[in-house]
Parts: sequence; C-alpha cells; structure tokens
Amino acid sequence: MKKIIVTGGAGFIGSHTVVELTSAGYEPVIVDDLRNSEARMIDGLTAILGVRPRFHRIDCADEAAMRSVLNTEGDVHGVIHFAAYKAVGESVAEPAMYYRNNIGSLAVLLALMNERAIPHLVFSSSCTVYGQPTSLPVNEAAPDRNASSPYGYTKVVCEQLVRDQCAATPELKAVLLRYFNPIGAHPSARIGELPRGVPGNLVPFVTQTAAGLRGKLRVNGNDYATSDGTCVRDYIHVMDLARAHVVALGWMEQRTGSTCEVFNLGTGRGNTVMEVVNTFAEVNAVDVPYEIGPRRAGDVEAVYADTTKSREVLGWTCDHDLRDALRDAWNWQRSLGN
Ligand code: UD1
Repeated sequence: MKKIIVTGGAGFIGSHTVVELTSAGYEPVIVDDLRNSEARMIDGLTAILGVRPRFHRIDCADEAAMRSVLNTEGDVHGVIHFAAYKAVGESVAEPAMYYRNNIGSLAVLLALMNERAIPHLVFSSSCTVYGQPTSLPVNEAAPDRNASSPYGYTKVVCEQLVRDQCAATPELKAVLLRYFNPIGAHPSARIGELPRGVPGNLVPFVTQTAAGLRGKLRVNGNDYATSDGTCVRDYIHVMDLARAHVVALGWMEQRTGSTCEVFNLGTGRGNTVMEVVNTFAEVNAVDVPYEIGPRRAGDVEAVYADTTKSREVLGWTCDHDLRDALRDAWNWQRSLGN
C-alpha cells in the first residue's frame, strides 16, 4: 500500500482526508502533536475505519522527530501537509508565531522530502490568497492580493516556497489546493471540527449557539453590497474537500515530468451569512438566535470559486450541498453531548 504522511491528520480537514485515503486504498500515517486537536479524533477515526490509524504524536516542524518518523515508516509515497495555525485574529496578534510555524514546518518537510526523494506533495492553501477578488467567481489565475492577515500571507509565502522547490527538484510533484470555506462533518458524526475556545468561524459558532452554549450569534455586518447585506462565502462540505486530496494524488501519479499546479476547492456557489443561518435553522428545525453587529476587520465582502479547472483537469466536483453540510455539522455538535 502507498503510504501517505498526513501532517495535521487529527485536525478537521486532515481527519476526513484520512478516511478518504483509506477508502481509496492508501495507507495514511498521521503526524500530529494534538496541540489544536484531541485524542478523541483518533478514536473517532478508529470507529470509522474499524482499525486504529498509524499515528505519531510529534510536531512536524521538529526536524529530528520527523526524520525519525520517516525512518520508521520506510517507503513513503507522498505527504499531505495540513498542519498549520489558521486563526486569522490570532495571526494578527502573534505574527511571528504564525510565520515560524506555518512556513517553518513546510520548510522542514520539503528538506526531508528532498533528502528521501519523496515524490508527491499536497499543500493546504486558502482562498485567502485572493483577498477581495475584482471579479467573481474567482479563478486560479487571479492575482494574489492583499491577503489581509499574517495568516493569509503565510499561505502566499508557502505557495511560493512549494513552487520554488518544484522548480529546483523536477522529480517533486506538488498540488496547491486553495480551500474556500470548509464546513460539515463526517456523516457518522464520529469526527468533525473541534474549535478551541470561542469559535471564530461562522458554522461552529452557529452550531454552538443552536446547542445553547452561546447566547447569540453576532452577524458581522449587514451593510455589504450583497443580496441581503451580509458577506458571501463558498461553503464546501469537508467530505468533498477531503476526497479532492485523493483525486489530486491520483492525478499527480499519472503525470510525467515536473508538476506544480494550483486548484480552487469550492462549490462554485456563494451564500450569504444569513442564508447559512436560515438554512441551518430550517434543515435542523432549531432556533439560532442572532443579532446584527458591526463589520469584522479584514473581512472581504464576497468570494466564491470558479471550479472550472478542478472539474476539467482533476475531474473533481462536489457531491454535497449546503443543506447536507449544515445537517452534518449539527449532528456532530450534538454528538459532543454538551
Ligand atoms: C477565514 C479566512 C480563511 C481561513 C478560514 C479558516 C480570510 C479572509 N479568511 O475565512 O482564509 O481559511 O477563516 O479559519 O482570511 N461571521 C459572522 N459571525 C461569526 C463568525 C463569522 O457573521 O461569529 C461571518 C464572517 O464575518 C464572514 C462569514 O461569517 O462573513 C464567514 O466567516 P468565517 O467562518 O470566519 O470564514 P472566513 O473569514 O471566510
């Protein structure tokens, strides 16, 4: 079986990708120090897979520890690098921590991949690299704009680092995946998103509000130039996103010659904050108390994906819609029993 190192494999997107890799016949090996996750995610994966996944509890930015993992694992077919900090507000307060961790971990991995001639890399990027696009839907050729946070800039820099490494190492094949807004959970509700403290992202805040853990959702501004005045995003089910990583690996395997391609991963549809809130309440038959607040600093008005390239080149499209994702997000919240 082809071994794939999954850094951040106990995290939200990483754990779902571990499930999809296993279904596709790969052998995922999780590398995660659980600093932003919990052991329950490994237990959840064990319940879904029927077997405990291979798991190394180390920091993937620790070169010596990573080298020892690679020595233990032997022949490695590829690396999917999820492990990173991702909270926009925190990145504004702690920029050095973000640059050091997000760029440092990638630099360590690329050096080790080079050393051992590991041929495939999938890197987690974000639509944050587009800033506010001048035309929508946004395609991969749109220029990088003001990413509006240190977190966003770490993605811009990491993308460039992967491109530079591919240029230097023609045997290395890489795919940069620009995620739009991942939401939802595995339909079994055994794995899902585990935000630390007060959720910064919309859907975890909505599920916690519906569960009574938060009093009210604050909608960040309703004076944008959108259909109902609230921001537009492209919300994609995490299972669709996870499957795209497996598709990307298969695509790289078929390529001859050097490869470094970037793909949008979104549904191609934009929804406003109020559409998400109302759809959530309707699909799950629960109340979501909310109030309208001021705009949030750094928010773009609207962004959603042009999915032409991922559809035509990778042959990948989404199977789930917003309703599926909001139902699964709620089932996961309820499974937490709080
Ligand atoms: C942000 C980042 C994105 C990152 C993602 C994961 C930017 C521009 N975007 O996405 O790159 O991958 O976080 O952490 O850097 N909202 C509310 N009330 C809330 C929470 C959110 O109204 O309590 C609104 C926001 O203002 C926004 C929408 O919901 O309009 C989505 O917000 P969020 O889930 O935080 O995602 P992004 O900001 O799009």
